[in-house]
Amino acid sequence: MTRAGADDGRKEIDMTVSNDTYPKRHSLTRRDFLRLTAGAGALLAASDPRAGAVAERKPVDLELALRAQPEALALFPGAPTRVWRYTAKVIQGDPASVSALPDTYLGPILRLRRGSRVRITLDNGLTEDTNVHWHGLHVPERMDGHPRDVARPGGQYVYEFEVRDRAGTYWFHPHTHGRTGAQIYQGLTGLLLVGDDAERALDLPDGAQDVPLVLQDRTLGSDNQFAYIEAGMPMMQRMMGFLGDRILVNGRPDFVLPVATRAYRLRLLNASSARVYKLAWRDGTPLTVIATDGGLLARPVERPYVTLAPAERIELWADFSGRRVGETLALESLPFAGGMAMGGGMMGRGGMMNGMMGGRLPNGAAFPVLTVRVARQESESRRLPAQLATLAAADARAAVNANAPRRFGLTMGQMEWSINGRSFEMEAVARDEIVRLDTTEVWEFANDRARMMAMPHPLHVHGVQFRVLERSVARGGEDAWNTVRAGYVDEGYKDTLLLMPGERARVLLRFADYPGLFVFHCHNLEHGDMGMMRNYRVRA
Ligand code: C2O
Ligand code: CU
Ligand code: CU
Repeated sequence: MTRAGADDGRKEIDMTVSNDTYPKRHSLTRRDFLRLTAGAGALLAASDPRAGAVAERKPVDLELALRAQPEALALFPGAPTRVWRYTAKVIQGDPASVSALPDTYLGPILRLRRGSRVRITLDNGLTEDTNVHWHGLHVPERMDGHPRDVARPGGQYVYEFEVRDRAGTYWFHPHTHGRTGAQIYQGLTGLLLVGDDAERALDLPDGAQDVPLVLQDRTLGSDNQFAYIEAGMPMMQRMMGFLGDRILVNGRPDFVLPVATRAYRLRLLNASSARVYKLAWRDGTPLTVIATDGGLLARPVERPYVTLAPAERIELWADFSGRRVGETLALESLPFAGGMAMGGGMMGRGGMMNGMMGGRLPNGAAFPVLTVRVARQESESRRLPAQLATLAAADARAAVNANAPRRFGLTMGQMEWSINGRSFEMEAVARDEIVRLDTTEVWEFANDRARMMAMPHPLHVHGVQFRVLERSVARGGEDAWNTVRAGYVDEGYKDTLLLMPGERARVLLRFADYPGLFVFHCHNLEHGDMGMMRNYRVRA
């Protein structure tokens, strides 16, 4: 099978921080690449049902080589940190489609145009299976990174799809069953930005004023290594999900963003395993939100703070034009309740369980996220558009089951999180997990079943962008809910939805274009890995 420089990648660890997003020793010539991928396509299509190759190879607008491999990076003073990292290279198409964030373990930023056809070949330089899920994108089942579709160590997987999604902030990460949390924790995460003509016409801040901000928490173990909860960790810690005590922005601690006195587009992704952020400017300036998971809102909305659960994205319009050079402004995470509850009673901040599970920084604790420093005077001509996009109304009457939503309870079995009492099974689909192609449905998620251990669950559905119809909370959950709910932004398209203890939500989903098997799951990564995930089938 095809091994594009995989073997040397596994033996050696690169000790340098490279700005080249695709290390030279793995680079392929275009001819090599075409030979390899054509070979992979033919072989996989002929013999392997898990193949990501397409039988018929259409020409593409953009072709990328994406590699996952171990590296060691000097991220903190002292010893280098061993990470797993994505690197990418443009084989064909716009060279600006791949750019690197500086000094980080995070993967490159991929920029895709709506309407374009892309081919991305994953090259697995790890010693275990991996794959790529394009979080938030609407792609065919075999291109979606379902846990059954993986590249073996040293092998490849060819992803090919048309970009049908709205302009917005998406991301990519591995999705191997039971190992997603660990692989993301080691560093396998990248942003994927989709652009289109309608967005371009808005003339939003771009270039240096379009700033990606990836939020993650990590715990540094001995010798600057990322410590993760593994098989031997306390069961209670797995039940909670991983919470690190260091907040990293774009992979760096104590993040400072130098800005000019003008407007910025800040694209925030919460790529943490289990941490929920309650983001606010320290000086009380409201947050101006222009986009959520699935792209631009119809018009900007203001929030006193924004609640950002794992996998959620938010885009802010941040105007620093009224500020003085030298001024600093902190973005922080405010305290909230509902980290978890045991036996019905909420454990407050610093409560015993929280203290045990979150170490020095439990979910709901307050902490600084980053500092904006006004560094330069520059004049600004941009204005925040009053209208950003045209969104169809979220009308439940469009659904085939408007009066009888499909219900999914978030449940807990024998110290195991589940959905409707079921754990993930690789290919299994229950009768109530089958939907019809080309229909619209209402789904209801209910986080009021696991009363013995209530905690937040960010629910994510693959393959669709949905609309939030309504939310409510069970009696007794109001107080905790009230500490986060003003920060929900439900006005636009979403693919991930936070459900606090006792909360229920109804969402409207449309199953267009692609039949097949997709997953939906809790995006608390340890919950997903433990089986809080199910398939749903879109039947043609
Ligand atoms: Cu962000 Cu199933 O994934
Ligand atoms: Cu996803
Ligand atoms: Cu969960």
